[in-house]
Amino acid sequence: TPVFKKTGNQLMAIKKSKITNPSWGGRFEDSVNKLAVSYTSSLDQDKRMYQEDIVGSMKYAQALKEARVITANDYSKILKGLKTIQREIESGKFEWKEQLEDVHMNIESALQRKAGNAAKKLHTGRSRNDQVSTDLRLVVLKSIDEISNLISKVQGSIVAKAKKHHSDLMPGFTHLQLAQPVTFGHHLMAWYEMLNRDFSRLQDTKKRASSMPLGSGALSGNRYKLDRKLLAKRLSFDRISNNSIDAVSDRDFSLELLSTISILGVHLSRINEELIIWSSSQFNYIDLPEEFCTGSSIMPQKKNPDVSELMRGGSARTMSNLMGLLVLMKGLPLAYNRDMQEDKRFIFDSLDYSNSSLELLALMIKGMSVNTKKMKQDCELGHITATELADYLVLKGLAFRKAHELVGKIVAHADKQKKQIFELNLKELKKYSKLIEKDAMNLIKPEEAIRNKDSIGGTSPKQVLRQINKAKRELSSRR
Ligand code: ARG
Repeated sequence: TPVFKKTGNQLMAIKKSKITNPSWGGRFEDSVNKLAVSYTSSLDQDKRMYQEDIVGSMKYAQALKEARVITANDYSKILKGLKTIQREIESGKFEWKEQLEDVHMNIESALQRKAGNAAKKLHTGRSRNDQVSTDLRLVVLKSIDEISNLISKVQGSIVAKAKKHHSDLMPGFTHLQLAQPVTFGHHLMAWYEMLNRDFSRLQDTKKRASSMPLGSGALSGNRYKLDRKLLAKRLSFDRISNNSIDAVSDRDFSLELLSTISILGVHLSRINEELIIWSSSQFNYIDLPEEFCTGSSIMPQKKNPDVSELMRGGSARTMSNLMGLLVLMKGLPLAYNRDMQEDKRFIFDSLDYSNSSLELLALMIKGMSVNTKKMKQDCELGHITATELADYLVLKGLAFRKAHELVGKIVAHADKQKKQIFELNLKELKKYSKLIEKDAMNLIKPEEAIRNKDSIGGTSPKQVLRQINKAKRELSSRR
């Protein structure tokens, strides 16, 4: 048989024979060939797609049968063989062979041993180019659902904690300096919103990823009159691809996923940065569960927030994976190029990061204990309600800029006295403005300050509860 008619197995046998062929001589040739075989293999990465590959082949075989390319008998042999292979893989019995390059050829070659001639018909009209693109999209679609569920889980932990602390005082920060009092529940619900955008970006990515390339062949389509729309439906795709050249070349769906995970990574990193700061002795706002911390080999007193640190650090990988895939794709001509095989490394690494991080974060938030006393105490520092006094003067008719300047002077005065502004007495305050009355003394207490921030989305306990209720409705509508 001419080379172009040989099966994958026969071709591999040739490659293999080169490796061992004595007439090709010396050790050097031998080891170069072996090296190239393992250099070009993607098996270590893509065997993670075995499920998608098998389902894809099952439905493809069905389409071939319906188009009368293979017989019902062929189809049932293929189906049976693929089921056995799935069981073997899942029980660890399957013998993966690196020299068969990838998951697709490993499964096809095993199928040939089980289903003989029928198996040799499975690849009719199909190329690994449309096959790998289909498999990968299925992986991406499944992963989007997994990550979305995990995001909801973290959000669930957040909402439960926020509810408990919806009216507990906490100093709010800008520039990491004390700014204005907020409630701890309010701060937690800010995390909820960040994750909500990640959730919605994932749903959006899903829409575009859900396009089935199968039937595109190597790049030009196929001549077997397969019902692609029905095939797409059976594989749970929303629609079929429009252009076969684009279908096998496109990795936008992976780029979008990695970009979405990178932004999620930014959020996870920022959240963990706060957990780290808050659990330091100086802040002492929270205590992380011991099971997510480690000690030091030299300092007996240490309890380090390692899981949080690695979640902060690991997010760097999500960004470099996105950059890696962007750079990988940017110069490639259409259609398929082997370079694209490298995509899986980036994708799987980001998926590993996001899935395990979210799982852990949900538990850490649930398990952390909150030092409401210390947070409240810190609201008595840094003249944290100075803006409140300015607002008070505005309501009494002063222009805000003037009120701002005036309160600035009061702060300077209090600093000189080594006092907080709420420790000054009415007489002292009145020296700066006649407008200040007794009721101002109450307004500049942090408890009172938060109650007055009653704008929608603001920090008043009432508004925080409103956010929490909205969140609860959202989460339950996802179930
Ligand atoms: N292992 C390859 C990949 O992941 C499969 C496609 C190979 N196609 C080809 N024409 N060599 O991209």
